[in-house]
Amino acid sequence: MEVFPVNQYDPLMPGILMAIVAVVHVFLAQFAVGGGMLLCYFQWLAMTGRCPNARLFVHGYFKWLVLISFVAGAVTGVGIWFTAIQVSAPTIGEMIRNFHWIWATEYLFFLLEIFAGYLFYRYHRNISDAACLKLLGMYAFAAWMSLFLINGIISWQLTPGGWIDDHWIVAGFFNPTFWPSLFFRTIVALTLAGLVACIVVNTMTKLDQEEKRTLINYAAHLLVPMVLMPILGGWFMLAMPEDSRGWITGGSPAMTLFMNISVGASLAIGGYAFIGMFLQKLYINGATATLLLMLAFGATAGGEFVREGSRKPYSIRYWMYSNGIFPDEVAQMRKDGCLANDPYPLTEGTKVAGEITTRGAKVFRRQCAVCHTVVGINGVTDLTKTWDEEQMRMNFAKLQHTKPFMPPFAGTPEELESLVRYLKWVEHGDDSAAEAPLDEEALANIQKWLDAAGTEPTSGLHQRSDVVMKGHR
Ligand code: HEC
Repeated sequence: MEVFPVNQYDPLMPGILMAIVAVVHVFLAQFAVGGGMLLCYFQWLAMTGRCPNARLFVHGYFKWLVLISFVAGAVTGVGIWFTAIQVSAPTIGEMIRNFHWIWATEYLFFLLEIFAGYLFYRYHRNISDAACLKLLGMYAFAAWMSLFLINGIISWQLTPGGWIDDHWIVAGFFNPTFWPSLFFRTIVALTLAGLVACIVVNTMTKLDQEEKRTLINYAAHLLVPMVLMPILGGWFMLAMPEDSRGWITGGSPAMTLFMNISVGASLAIGGYAFIGMFLQKLYINGATATLLLMLAFGATAGGEFVREGSRKPYSIRYWMYSNGIFPDEVAQMRKDGCLANDPYPLTEGTKVAGEITTRGAKVFRRQCAVCHTVVGINGVTDLTKTWDEEQMRMNFAKLQHTKPFMPPFAGTPEELESLVRYLKWVEHGDDSAAEAPLDEEALANIQKWLDAAGTEPTSGLHQRSDVVMKGHR
């Protein structure tokens, strides 16, 4: 396997950077999907005479949608690719290698979305109502198809399902979390569109309070499907691997926190929507709508963090570890080392004391940097502050037992010892201790612990099919 180095952004962890870009993009993209459906609904309301002001609304809302989905959505979409190749080129590589036709198809739908959106934007004043609805329908369908297609690839990362056994693309695409995730995201999309609609209505100065209230009550219809969220969330959780489920339900404090943020924020929005907007038909002003939208952003962020985080130690479950190493490479890498095929120098300006610490820093970049920093968020020097060298050696050698969401260590005893030296050097800055010749006894101990730990992951072992782990490249 070719090596692509992780770009380090201390004190920001690469995974966090990726998550931030992804959350913003997902939020915008889901809004675009829901926006298309909302516009179809309001166009229909206007055409059938149910709500004459809906026409005014459609034109006003569309400008926002174009601005947000075409400009910000497209820019952050490119941003995801750009960030992902800095953080985990091997993962992106596998996603493209296995699903290139799906990506290509998705791109066609994106073009269709832009095409239909542009025609509507340009000609909606000159064409018939029916033609407007057709264009909006085409726009909404294309946007939703993008979601449909990308959802297959993203959910495959967490639950590759039968794909693991025979690499059948259909099994990978329609994997165990495909449907719950698709339905859930569609509902989120409708919710976001409905909330943005409430904000947009408040900016429509031509309407009086009563007319605005009518529009808002129609927009609230898009929030009704939220009642299905608990069922879909439960379905998703059941389809998840058992250990991932364990982490988000208490096993990992951070994951559980994000999970609770997501559920709590969704409940708050759903509760307000149901009681306020639906039962009591309240008017919601721009400030309240903005607040609800911010809650929705929090829910999205929490949800995406959980989805990304619960895949650990894999970036593609059972198939590739988060650090881009394949499970079946580990045994060989224990003999050859993880730097054997890593020709990349350290980034200019990386501080080291000499040869050993240079090796240590490279081992860190190859095996740890995707989830840790040296001294920053989830910084390893901080996590090991109370450990002596011997404890570090042992806990790194048994990495997958130290925490089940870490992959097994994939390198030689010399590499592990260099990593320990490097981290201690960063902490204490003692050059001569860091670069002293390696101690044979320490290396022998490391070898003993590596052997005791084995090369299998602690997590997800029971479901991995050993047949496929061989000969996939
Ligand atoms: C898949 C992501 C991932 C990779 C790769 C990874 N870690 Fe971790 N590691 C974590 C997470 C998440 C934690 C939990 C942090 C916490 O509890 O705050 C953790 C915790 C730790 C801890 C603290 C353990 C404890 O018992 O307190 C140490 C030390 C550590 N990692 C070292 C490493 C080293 C060294 C490497 C590379 C050889 C590495 N990790 C690779 C995700 C990872």
